[in-house]
Amino acid sequence: MSVDPVLARIDSSLPDSLERLKGLLRIPSISTDPAFKDDCDRAADWLVADLQSMGISAEKRPTPGHPMVVGHIDGPGPHLLFYGHYDVQPVDPLDLWDNDPFDPQIEDTDKGRVLRGRGSADDKGQLMTFVEACRAWIDVHGTLPCKITFFFEGEEESGSPSLVPFLEDHADELKADIALICDTGLFDSRVPAITTMLRGMLQEEITITGPTRDLHSGMYGGAAMNPIRVLSRIIAALHDDDGRVTIPGFYEGVPEIPADVLQQWNALGFDHTAFLGDVGLSELAGEAGRSALEMLWSRPTCEVNGIGGGYQGDGFKTVLPSKASAKISFRLVGQQDPHAIRDSLRNMVTDLTPKDCKVAFKAHGASQASVMSIDTPAFEKARTALSDEWPDEAAFIGCGGSIPVAGYFQSLLATESMLIGFGKDDDQIHSPNEKYDVESFHKGARSWARILAALSSE
Ligand code: BES
Ligand code: ZN
Repeated sequence: MSVDPVLARIDSSLPDSLERLKGLLRIPSISTDPAFKDDCDRAADWLVADLQSMGISAEKRPTPGHPMVVGHIDGPGPHLLFYGHYDVQPVDPLDLWDNDPFDPQIEDTDKGRVLRGRGSADDKGQLMTFVEACRAWIDVHGTLPCKITFFFEGEEESGSPSLVPFLEDHADELKADIALICDTGLFDSRVPAITTMLRGMLQEEITITGPTRDLHSGMYGGAAMNPIRVLSRIIAALHDDDGRVTIPGFYEGVPEIPADVLQQWNALGFDHTAFLGDVGLSELAGEAGRSALEMLWSRPTCEVNGIGGGYQGDGFKTVLPSKASAKISFRLVGQQDPHAIRDSLRNMVTDLTPKDCKVAFKAHGASQASVMSIDTPAFEKARTALSDEWPDEAAFIGCGGSIPVAGYFQSLLATESMLIGFGKDDDQIHSPNEKYDVESFHKGARSWARILAALSSE
């Protein structure tokens, strides 16, 4: 079965494919906000109907949270498990969007045509690159070159609470020769990529309580403990002057990247000045003595994602607050153990909390980093297929983000993952005005068509 007519079919049906994607983008499937529960359900129904329209047997599978979508279609080649997520991040702050986030529009920009809307890049546009490639194969040849299981999740952006139990309960159904995950990026607009390393994640919320109620800072200030001061000292203590995290044991299990891999990363010619310049910055802020790609792909981090306490309304209020809180997350690498780090963080914070204050902890997500084993024929086949589609040869790269499902496929299904995606650094995922390049969508579908052909070849 030749891939050329499939590629031609993808080209000629691009306008239809974009319209279909817009249909999915119009559904506000924000998983973290209970107000959008029905919309998450509708997005799952949309995907089931779309897969069924291609002759794939697909079902919505309930979970205690948002449903999963599972579809199966037989084919001669290896058994592939394709994963994407149909849920999206909240849109706030809404006033920073130039258009309605759920009324997707094609725009001509000085960098090319883009489709703008929440979820266009993360992850609806990406998952539809694969679906469109399958549709074109079926349209042209009446069948697919591989056996494929489709698996779409609706809780990725809210910590995937139902994922592990679902995988445990359906391991036999989902297990495959290899998993394909489309939720990562290109290296740049010329260089496609297979992501071989993902960072893990640990999330913790800390609340310091001082006085039993907010106080007048003229009546109590100076004599009473201010929990914002306490919290600020704790946060400041989490890093040293070289940008290293100070939590005892934090660096246990952090490997040094082998010299040949570092050399390969250096050869990619990553321009960190331009990367930071795009967001109005100029100086690297990570650990002293590390390159930008090391900081992003292979070093662990500690970031404060949100902080609250005291009076934040208009004007001014001379208050001494009762409480202060922070949401703190860590990107993890290598063998770092999220649970051990959580314990150590809690001990450190407890030690830094004066005895007149109370500290409360709330655990959020925890997942380990994953590293893919790339020395299998499938990786080389996919790399060649990608290189055939894009101007430059495909690169093996790291990723600063976290996609915990890759680790769960490994541990619960004994299935290795191959991460291929077509996002770009300027897609503004999780931010206002998210977009996906029409070129990413189009060449993404063409890339998958080629990858399916390559994986089914001897
Ligand atoms: N698609 C992203 C992961 C990603 C981020 C890939 C940046 C490439 C570049 C994914 O949807 C995501 O945002 N994951 C969360 C997971 C976390 C909440 C466990 C992340 O990385 O923050
Ligand atoms: Zn995503």
